[in-house]
Order: sequence, then C-alpha cells, then structure tokens
Amino acid sequence: MKFDTLALHAGYTPDPVTHSRAVPLYMTTAYTYDSTEHARSLFALEQPGNIYSRLGSPTCDVLEQRIAALEGGVGSLATASGHAAIQMMMMNLAGAGDEIIAGNNLYGGTMNLFGVSFPRLGIKVHFADAHDPASFEKLINDKTKAIYVEAVGNPNADLADLEAIGRIAHAHGLPFIVDNTVASPALLQPKKFGADLIIHSTTKYLSGTGTVMGGMAVDCGTFRWKDNPRFPLFNNPDPSYHGVVFADAANNAGYIMRLRSLILRDFGGCQSPFNAWITLLGMETLSLRMKRHSESALTVAKFLEASDAVERVNYPALESSPYYALSKKYLPNGASSMFTFVIRGGREAGGKFINACRLISHVTNLGDSRTLVSHPATTTHSQLTDEQLVAAGIETGTVRLSVGLEDVGDLLEDLEQALKISQE
Ligand SMILES: Cc1ncc(COP(=O)(O)O)c(C=O)c1O
Repeated sequence: MKFDTLALHAGYTPDPVTHSRAVPLYMTTAYTYDSTEHARSLFALEQPGNIYSRLGSPTCDVLEQRIAALEGGVGSLATASGHAAIQMMMMNLAGAGDEIIAGNNLYGGTMNLFGVSFPRLGIKVHFADAHDPASFEKLINDKTKAIYVEAVGNPNADLADLEAIGRIAHAHGLPFIVDNTVASPALLQPKKFGADLIIHSTTKYLSGTGTVMGGMAVDCGTFRWKDNPRFPLFNNPDPSYHGVVFADAANNAGYIMRLRSLILRDFGGCQSPFNAWITLLGMETLSLRMKRHSESALTVAKFLEASDAVERVNYPALESSPYYALSKKYLPNGASSMFTFVIRGGREAGGKFINACRLISHVTNLGDSRTLVSHPATTTHSQLTDEQLVAAGIETGTVRLSVGLEDVGDLLEDLEQALKISQE
C-alpha cells in the first residue's frame, strides 16, 4: 500500500468482536488473563498480548504500527512525549561511561537533555558541526554508541546531510538516529538516507492539532546489533528478562523489543491511549496537511523576504537559503512550515512584532493547525547573553514561525500589520 493508504489503514482492521470501523479507544490499565499459563507465556514473551498499559495498549499499538509503516520500520514504540522518546532511546543504547555524538543545532530542550542531564548520568555527549559530516567522524572513539541529528533543525530549519552522516556512522559500526519531527514522514523518510532509528515528537505535525503530547521511537530494522562489539547489552543474555538475547530477535527488531520490554518497563514513559487515539485522528490527514503547511510556509517566507522590516529569512525552500540544494534532495515535496526570520531592530522590534500579531498566536509549540509565533530572545532563550544567542544560532531579532492551515491571505495581512508596528 502507498503512503496515504497506510496513513489511514496500517495497523488496524475492524476487530471481529465489535466490527468498529474507526480505531477503538481502549482506556484500561490492565487486561485479563485466560489462565495462569496464559499469563506466564505473555510475561515470557512467548506470545503477543496485552498485560498492563505501561507496557503497551491496543490503541497505542495501532499508532505504533502505523508510524512504523509510514517510516518503513520493523516496529516502533509510543512514548509520553518526544523527550521521553529521546531519553529512553538513548538509555537503550548507552549507560555511564558511554558517549554519543550529536549535531550542534538541536531543539533547545534536546540540547539541555544531552548537554546537562545526560552528563549527570555519566553519558557524555559531544556536539559536532551539524553541517560538516567530517566533524562527526573526528569525535568517534571506542565508547561511542550512536550518532544523532535533527533532519530539519529547530528553530532555524537548517538541514543536515543525512546520507553523508549516516555513511560515517555505519563505517564505524554505529547506529544513526534521526529526529524527523519537523518534516514528518509525509515529507521525508530518513530510512531511505541511512537512518537506523527515528524519533518523533508526535505532539507536533503528526497529531497536528496542538492538543496532545506524544513521542515515537521507530526501529528501521537496518542496524546489525548481532556480534557488534560496541553492544554487549544486545549480545549477552539479559538477566532482567529471562536471559533473552535481543540481538537474536526476528526481523532484526531487537532494539525496539528491548526498548519496550526493558526500558519502557523500567523508566515508564508510556503514552496514554487517549493521546494515541487523538494522534491517529490527526494522522488521517497528514499528507494533505503537510502539503498545505509547506505551500503556505513558502508563500509566507517569500513575503517576508520581500519586506523592508526583515533582514533575513531562514527557510530551506527559498533559493537564497544555503540549504536550498539539500532541500531539493531531502524535501522535494515541501519543506514543512517551521522556520525563522530576523526582524530589523533586534530584541525591541521582535517584542513589538509579537505583541502586534492578532491572528497569529504567541505560543511555544510548532506543528499546530493554527499559525504560531515565538521570539526566542524574550522567551526560551531570554537567559542568554547576546553572544550566547549567536552561538545558539539565534539573533536578538530572530522570530520563529510555525505556519498553520489558515487562509494564507489572512496570514499575510496579519504579518504585514505586525511588521509595520514593529518598525514604529
Ligand atoms: C525537533 C524536536 N524534537 C523533540 C522535541 C520534544 O518533543 P516534546 O515536546 O513532545 O517532548 C521537540 C519539541 O519541541 C522538537 O521540536
């Protein structure tokens, strides 16, 4: 089946008991066993089935199968948030004494997780230049467990050369992990460019309505854990799970099996079935929305580029962007709708602009059906000095937009009046 059909059908056929056409929402904590023997075999992973909703639920299972199908994966795991996905995915690979190499252009929350919280747990994260694949290779050593990048960086919508970075990871026996939140699988399927593991904040475009938190870890089944000396955890019998050797799992799906049966079990960041159900509703229109988001964002980006009140627009589908060539390769069907522009007049003009927006909402989120705006220098990054802002790729006049699904003419009108006020 093709992408749009999978987005509507993958992972669910009407169940034989209720014949429900839509995916049912199963709100229950626990599931009954037929017998003690049935319970034993479920716990021993001898047969699939529901035990307890921290470990999985039928509604989350449909979402997991659907996103795995859209990304070409062998399995996936729904988590409480995008951050829960990142944290648990890394815990599934690395522990105290291990190292990870990440791009230096990550979402601020991921930068904190990697730069501050992981080192407290003994996991060292090196930051490579996301735009220089060779800089990743220089940081690889015996302790390295993975290479991690954002396909489209948040906030500046800069693009990493996935294929080049993936090749380096594989040459050193390392899994390549890609955060595909901003593009979504409707615009980019990182597996085609070497990703072994994919993470999503489903909070954003996948659910698409700014209503529910969620994350997803996808296992592409491409990485060979078996006999890889970097991963004894996958190659030795696991004492906390009946001595199972995860590298022996069928379909090369040991990573996702371990993520659920050990890491989710122990760290507990499961997704609510309700959130999974809302996300499934949103995903029914994913590719329609991503097309419209991308078209409107390009119209808005061109409008801003032509405005005297704007110094620069960072949108990869603009010919003026240094990432234009990469966008043709990785995002040929649209470059999503989150990007930044630099307003003339710095911090003060940025603040005035935000206050003047009427239709566009001042919100710290992206991927909503409504258009959202934020000004990092007065909000998320207000603790930083101007020099630190520049190091983070943010200027005092940087404004981030997430272009929604409204009539684009109404958006341009709102932007025009707010830009005018920003310059008064
Ligand atoms: C690219 C990216 N990855 C991960 C996250 C974290 O997701 P969540 O907020 O669902 O925890 C975000 C949140 O903004 C994000 O933009």
